[in-house]
Amino acid sequence: MKKLFAALVIVAGMIVAGLFCLVLYKGPRMTVQHHFRAYQTVQPPPVEGTVPVNLPEQLPTEESAATVRNPLPDTAENRQRGRVYYDYYCVFCHGKKGAGNGPVGESYMPAPADLRSQRIANYRDGDLLRNMLLGIGHEPVLERVVPPKHRWYLVLYVRSLK
Ligand code: HEC
Repeated sequence: MKKLFAALVIVAGMIVAGLFCLVLYKGPRMTVQHHFRAYQTVQPPPVEGTVPVNLPEQLPTEESAATVRNPLPDTAENRQRGRVYYDYYCVFCHGKKGAGNGPVGESYMPAPADLRSQRIANYRDGDLLRNMLLGIGHEPVLERVVPPKHRWYLVLYVRSLK
């Protein structure tokens, strides 16, 4: 009786293992999962005769950056807000004081820039905005991550680090 039971357990185990291997080998693949399709769909065109409002704010181009100025006044409150955003998006690479020694940044080659340097201070507002979102070490992720309404606060805060 014991032997029969043991044999049954072994056979059942082999069947389960066999099924598992079969599913692994023949089962559905990632590529056929319909979830991927959602990202591939194209937005419908706007209704004829209408124009979109509230277009997302674009970064200045390389040429127009020279003329773009930070619209925010340099107040303690705005800096404080910039600091909060800095802690969201930048601190783990550029470090608490902007020295470029955050825990993630330490593994970077080249290391993140020292944001207190004269070179950064010399940037005009538009260039600083572009370089901090698109420059080496950032592209193209930060431009997608930092929403336009947070950006000028960050420029303000980066300037105040010096
Ligand atoms: C993933 C790590 C990382 C994050 C997050 C990050 N940076 Fe950087 N940053 C870098 C690296 C790497 C460089 C390149 C240093 C170099 O080229 O010498 C850099 C360079 C810079 C520069 C100098 C650009 C130039 O033209 O020299 C500025 C300004 C800057 N970062 C600002 C920011 C700000 C503001 C944030 C947050 C919104 C941020 N960074 C987030 C890694 C990071």
